[in-house]
Amino acid sequence: MPQQPPPAGGPGRPDRPGHPDGAARPDLPERVAATYGAEDLGTVPAFAGGFINFGYWAWLPEPADRPLTEDDRIRSEQDLYRLVLDTCDRPRGRTALEVGCGRGLGCALALKEFDFRSVIGLDAHPDQIARALEANAALLSEGAGPRRLEFVLGPAQRMPLPDGCADFVYSVEAAQHFRDLPGFAREAVRVLRPGGLFALTTFFARVPDAVRVLPELLPPYADGLDVPHLVDDVAAAFGAAGLRDVAVTPIGDGVWECYDRYMEQRPELRDKWPRQYLTAYQTGLLDYYLITASAPAD
Ligand SMILES: C[S@@+](CC[C@H](N)C(=O)[O-])C[C@H]1O[C@@H](n2cnc3c(N)ncnc32)[C@H](O)[C@@H]1O
Repeated sequence: MPQQPPPAGGPGRPDRPGHPDGAARPDLPERVAATYGAEDLGTVPAFAGGFINFGYWAWLPEPADRPLTEDDRIRSEQDLYRLVLDTCDRPRGRTALEVGCGRGLGCALALKEFDFRSVIGLDAHPDQIARALEANAALLSEGAGPRRLEFVLGPAQRMPLPDGCADFVYSVEAAQHFRDLPGFAREAVRVLRPGGLFALTTFFARVPDAVRVLPELLPPYADGLDVPHLVDDVAAAFGAAGLRDVAVTPIGDGVWECYDRYMEQRPELRDKWPRQYLTAYQTGLLDYYLITASAPAD
């Protein structure tokens, strides 16, 4: 059973829409709910430091010359966030919203390194919201000034947030779980202020045939954790929702090889999380993408 989370949203705003009301259940498919509930994927050692993503390794100093460490693994996960947050020009004084924030460590990084005025972390799993509140307790209780960090329970396709509340909407390795990507895209447009910016990174199917083949290769697709969305369909859904200038950049060359090398170097990790992502990447079935766009200006 998922543990009972404390009220989301931090101190001072107990009436925030989307709060668990004491009987909250994850608004998620069963496998996704179990993965982020009792199984707590963030504690699987393949993902280090409380982040849950494959990481962006291209900025690590000379990683090819030496064994990769756990610190490298954490840095790779932070660097994936930095890649996404860097797409927001002039973050200072702006409000950012992360969709699928997990333990909220990327929200804290956005706040500390990018100088947003405020960051909202949204996640559909009440256990993840509870973990985010705990992991960021010090930051949440800092100072008496305007609230800068908050966590909200709710699904990407039905965000309990007001229209136009964010200058920048971003998401890191969460959209592979979303069943309703067009619904998420419409919600992103709704919660963005006119002209606001959007950035998302995760892995998607590269070619139509991959939608059939990936579940045969990778258990997370077969067991219903991930959805093999075709990247062209994803980009089309964002365009159809009204996002402008949708740009899709493959970044897999900075993700899969080092991630796989990190796993290979650690016998204790080898059977802890599937390894066939590199094969899927090398055979052209999937890639890791950075997708950016902007909301209409009026
Ligand atoms: C792989 S984790 C990534 C967490 C974090 N972004 C990171 O990189 O460390 C995916 C997160 O997305 C959340 N999630 C899955 N489906 C969701 C949905 N439909 N709406 C909002 N969050 C969702 C999960 O609860 C989980 O916390």
